[in-house]
Amino acid sequence: MAGFTETVWNPSRPEILYQDMTGVFPEYRNKGLGRWLKAAMIDKVLRERPEVKFIRTENADSNAAMLKINHELGFKPYISNPIWQIPLEKVEAYLAERKELYAD
Ligand SMILES: CC(C)(COP(=O)(O)OP(=O)(O)OC[C@H]1O[C@@H](n2cnc3c(N)ncnc32)[C@H](O)[C@@H]1OP(=O)(O)O)[C@@H](O)C(=O)NCCC(=O)NCCS
Repeated sequence: MAGFTETVWNPSRPEILYQDMTGVFPEYRNKGLGRWLKAAMIDKVLRERPEVKFIRTENADSNAAMLKINHELGFKPYISNPIWQIPLEKVEAYLAERKELYAD
């Protein structure tokens, strides 16, 4: 196995297909497999699910390889979802400064 892709489809919303995870093992990357997997899946969906009108997927801004594939396939930004992150030490320092408020 070199890679995979998967889609999720809910018959109660038949017009929308969700393109979920795609992965190619590191030793097989940058040979066109990720692009081929997603294109082959879209081809299969067009043949087997004619009711699908939209395909949705998610892409981290930092994932240049998948961004390239998605742009080339014609995906366009639709909804953005910022994810915030904080190092645990900062949370611990914050709580330590306010011990009286957060003590058990
Ligand atoms: C994303 C992933 C599936 C791509 O698979 P792949 O088989 O390497 O994809 P392809 O070879 O078809 O295409 C990748 C393209 O991105 C380009 N690319 C790779 N890294 C890049 C970078 N850092 N910056 C710009 N372009 C980059 C490659 O050159 C290639 O383009 P090209 O064919 O025009 O040269 C693979 O990197 C992977 O499994 N990543 C981890 C899992 C993941 O992040 N999945 C996506 C979220 S669902």
